[in-house]
Amino acid sequence: MCGIVGYVGRKDAESVLTVGLQKLEYRGYDSAGIALLVKNNIIVRKRAGKIHELINSLAESPLPKSTIGIAHTRWATHGGVCDTNAHPHLSQRGIFAVVHNGIIDNYSYLREMLRQQGYSFSSETDTEVIANLLEYNYLREGELIEALVKTVKQLEGSFALAILFRDDPDLIIGVRKDSPLVVGLGEEENILASDPVAILPHTKRVVYLDDGEIAFVRQNSVEFYDFQGKPIEKEAKILDYTEEDAEKGPYPHFMLKEIYEQPKVLSTNIERYVRSLKPVLLRDLNLRKLLLNKTRIIIEAAGTSYHAGLVGKYLLETYAEIPTEVEYSSEFSYRKLATDSRTLVVAISQSGETADTIDGLRYAKKHGLEVLAIVNRPESTIARESDYVIYTNAGIEVGVASTKAYVAQVQVLTLLALELAHVKGFLTEDELEGMMRHMEALPKKVERVLALDAHIGHIAERIYKTTNVMFLGRGINYPTALEGALKLKEVSYIHAIGYAAGEMKHGPLALVDNALPVVVINPRSSAYELTVSSTHEVVSRGGKVISVITEGDRRMAELSTHTIYVPEVPEFLTPIITIVPLQLLAYYAAVLRGVDPDKPRNLAKSVTVR
Ligand code: M6R
Repeated sequence: MCGIVGYVGRKDAESVLTVGLQKLEYRGYDSAGIALLVKNNIIVRKRAGKIHELINSLAESPLPKSTIGIAHTRWATHGGVCDTNAHPHLSQRGIFAVVHNGIIDNYSYLREMLRQQGYSFSSETDTEVIANLLEYNYLREGELIEALVKTVKQLEGSFALAILFRDDPDLIIGVRKDSPLVVGLGEEENILASDPVAILPHTKRVVYLDDGEIAFVRQNSVEFYDFQGKPIEKEAKILDYTEEDAEKGPYPHFMLKEIYEQPKVLSTNIERYVRSLKPVLLRDLNLRKLLLNKTRIIIEAAGTSYHAGLVGKYLLETYAEIPTEVEYSSEFSYRKLATDSRTLVVAISQSGETADTIDGLRYAKKHGLEVLAIVNRPESTIARESDYVIYTNAGIEVGVASTKAYVAQVQVLTLLALELAHVKGFLTEDELEGMMRHMEALPKKVERVLALDAHIGHIAERIYKTTNVMFLGRGINYPTALEGALKLKEVSYIHAIGYAAGEMKHGPLALVDNALPVVVINPRSSAYELTVSSTHEVVSRGGKVISVITEGDRRMAELSTHTIYVPEVPEFLTPIITIVPLQLLAYYAAVLRGVDPDKPRNLAKSVTVR
């Protein structure tokens, strides 16, 4: 939610920053801007619209050359989308330029206070308040670090900042509280960014800022301070990604690339978490003890991760017999918890930076509960603040629509549930080994679903002009219906709704007519017969069924206008095999409607606001 990048070194800052912004565009894309320091003057250019608007403007009327600057891509919170509200924001006397990711809760109060001191504001943003507050404090304190310390103490809310200081041509300042920031350590150059993807082209050596830390980033050095202004030592890490991981390669969109990466992601997790046909997550004795001691699990997550949690509930209750609830993070933190120390909270997140899910984990810890994170991005806030972490190893996911990260989350939850079931004595060694044989065969089967790409594209051609689509699933594939509907609506803007198939007759059936496409997810499973009955109810009211079913299933095929056959897998793996065609359906519907599926309107990849 907003991308920040800052550069100081020997290269042309404008090109480093604009390339960095393109890598961070997934974090927000309603406006973009850049500030360069040129002969003790800060020069700002900003434009509403996607980053190419800014790039075009820079090409038409170039800025003077510089080797130091900051830049920003915005997801608007305070103030509409326009050039003026875009970042960077300059302080009144032009001493500081600030870019910001987060929200300042007390900005109205600070703005009023600054107004009384003679400051006026040109934008509606909370960020301009930060620039002016820092300038105000600097002019009174005289020392930069003291002004910064005073400023961060006055700010309430969340903020990652990059700051350019007119009076020092070799300094960009990074500040972190509740929004991510990382410093890349190069050769005679250093770079600051919201996400390492913007750093990868320059260096793999990075230092992650923790909450309450400040970085003074210069061409040949980086110093770190806490919010009291005390110098601190930080350890550098080496990034485990390649540049290609953050590139589209031959694919027209990241979403398609990431859908196609799913067999590889599944294989990676099999390599890491399965040995000799046994899941090995609980070979970590602390994790094993933790799970064996708990009598209840609450999963808290948002969006697609919430849907993965729903599959997890089904598996944990069915196989490991542990009562599991799943809650939206945004609800979980705002209610009274009726829990005891034998309740485990599981936070699921791709980014590890979702503000609602972070709140949920902090809320759980405040109540004395232990938290296990199931997270994709290492070094993320959720990974670092949780008591235990299992990584989902999906690699960098850039497309706003979560695809490979979902499949990886469901796979990890499956392995965890089955291993726990075995450790508890509910699954024999033979049963577990048999299930792992199926798990090992899964990547190849997902490849076969990907080979249906053109067929699914044709089905998308039949539905892309529609205004509503309904998704039905039952049992372990009810979450698949919810996730299929979320994918379609977020990337194509077609209204889509997911229902438990059995609920149809209690109301939603009234929506069915001969204009409504109904996607029925009904692979062979214990819910099969009942879902066939629900499909009959739809068909007899004129509904046009698109079915996702097991190869060879003639009964469902006869009820369907379009069929998507997936290879046969045992029930516990059906949520993985059935979601893949629905991701492709959503992707093609978006493309046919002329929508960029990687950057749907109003959304951003990493939701760092509440
Ligand atoms: O990074 P997280 O998994 O915590 O993100 C949660 C949601 O914001 C995310 O899944 C969102 O719903 C996606 N856009 C869905 O495709």
